[in-house]
Amino acid sequence: QQKIKSICCIGAGYVGGPTMAVMAQRNPDIKVTVVDLNKQRIADWNDADLSKLPIFEPGLDQVVEEARGRNLFFSTEVDQAIQEAEMIFISVNTPTKTYGKGKGMAADLKYIELCARQIAEVATTDKIIVEKSTLPVKTAQAIKSILDHTGNGVKFQILSNPEFLAEGTAMTDLANPDRVLIGGEQTLEGKKAIQALVDVYATWVAKSQILTTNIWSSELSKLVANAFLAQRVSSINAISELCEATEANVEEVAKAIGMDSRIGPKFLKASVGFGGSCFQKDILNLVYIAKSLGLNQVADYWEQVILMNNHQRNRFANNIVSTLYNTVSGKKIAFLGWAFKKDTNDTRESAAIYVADRLMDERAQITVYDPKVTATQMQGDINYLNTRSESENKQYLETETDPYKALEGAHAIAVLTEWDEFKTYNWQTIYNNMSKPAFVFDGRNVLDKVELEKIGFIVQSIGK
Ligand code: NAD
Ligand code: UDX
Repeated sequence: QQKIKSICCIGAGYVGGPTMAVMAQRNPDIKVTVVDLNKQRIADWNDADLSKLPIFEPGLDQVVEEARGRNLFFSTEVDQAIQEAEMIFISVNTPTKTYGKGKGMAADLKYIELCARQIAEVATTDKIIVEKSTLPVKTAQAIKSILDHTGNGVKFQILSNPEFLAEGTAMTDLANPDRVLIGGEQTLEGKKAIQALVDVYATWVAKSQILTTNIWSSELSKLVANAFLAQRVSSINAISELCEATEANVEEVAKAIGMDSRIGPKFLKASVGFGGSCFQKDILNLVYIAKSLGLNQVADYWEQVILMNNHQRNRFANNIVSTLYNTVSGKKIAFLGWAFKKDTNDTRESAAIYVADRLMDERAQITVYDPKVTATQMQGDINYLNTRSESENKQYLETETDPYKALEGAHAIAVLTEWDEFKTYNWQTIYNNMSKPAFVFDGRNVLDKVELEKIGFIVQSIGK
């Protein structure tokens, strides 16, 4: 049985970085090299100052400190790393296509294909290729076809090993995964490859939690897991609107249904809408696959999860406008939070971006405070929507690094991310310095509504 000694991971992003850091930490005798085309990203991963790592994840710095330079390396020498490795993880981005067939729905696999071609070109010894990126079911077939036509006699086995970590809790998710999923070909060679990867994980994950399947089940399970999770959020968000119309309280409803062991208590937090790089992209991809196979009812069913999420974001923004006497033009609206959830600096698909865009259409003056997101990132996010010119975006969207300054003089505060620190602010001081009446729109239900109302705020939460 092959014992892996050298691993390469292509893609040093939110998944590749933390995943490989933990793999290296738990397998000191395996050399793990994470490569990326992005020179700045690699330089940041190598920065002696651990606060400069390119992504923020609680606990990541300690793991990098322990393993980096010992058996964990970050490099831009992609070819060399490919050549050396017995096992290659592909962990590059697979965004929604923005052009051509499947535009706005299908996953763009160009980065995956580039990796496959590069591996095919460079490899001179047999290798196990591991799909770590989230991919449409049947992608392994395309990768195999590219790799098998090199004519240089190198043999490849392809495995699917999707990642289930959530951002903000990536390190604990990686250390104690609910399960590790490994799909591979059901041939002798395929099973050997599966076993080699099982052994890498088995140094820290219980065997009973390592699930092996055929490759298509593994690829599809990742899309389905995200679709089910997102569906729970859209379901409770749909109920939040019903609660607002009936004096029911969505938190009480969530608790009541969550105590049913068949439903369970997790992922029932009503919010301004889910964000993140995965949920929307993966559901759209699922919908696209279903449509491509002529399964229109299946496609329509899952598409509703996205439509409800769009509705929830719009509803939140529209409610701000209507509550502020139907005009926010020239009014200062302060955002607490821009990241798509707490404890991450990731803003991809964050509800904050869409709510800001909608309010900027109404000519509101937005000032944002987020403990981990930079002004450049926020401008980039809003410019990416292409709704108005960059200079107009600059005019309507400002950033403050001090929360009290951000909130000073505001007509309304909108909470877009559930950062813990928001609860600890001196809300009396904030109230004193705001325009009156002072409104709070709590898109995450994190603030103490009763306390704020005692101070004098007019508070609107989700589903209450
Ligand atoms: P990311 O954008 O943070 O990182 C991808 C990296 O790959 C980038 O740094 C990019 O420069 C690099 N890259 C692209 N093409 C390359 C090439 N040919 N050679 C070398 N480097 C290349 O993306 P991510 O968030 O880490 O996601 C990666 C994959 O994992 C996606 O398929 C995503 O769906 C999946 N995933 C993400 C999460 C998450 O929470 N972010 C969770 C589970 C699965
Ligand atoms: C998700 C999956 O959880 C993870 O397994 C997969 O690997 C990647 O996609 P992530 O997007 O990082 O992880 O974060 P997650 O915790 O799932 O939150 C996604 C979005 O849903 C966030 O915007 C979050 O605020 C929102 N959410 C989540 C809710 O609004 N309510 C909830 O009850 C849970």
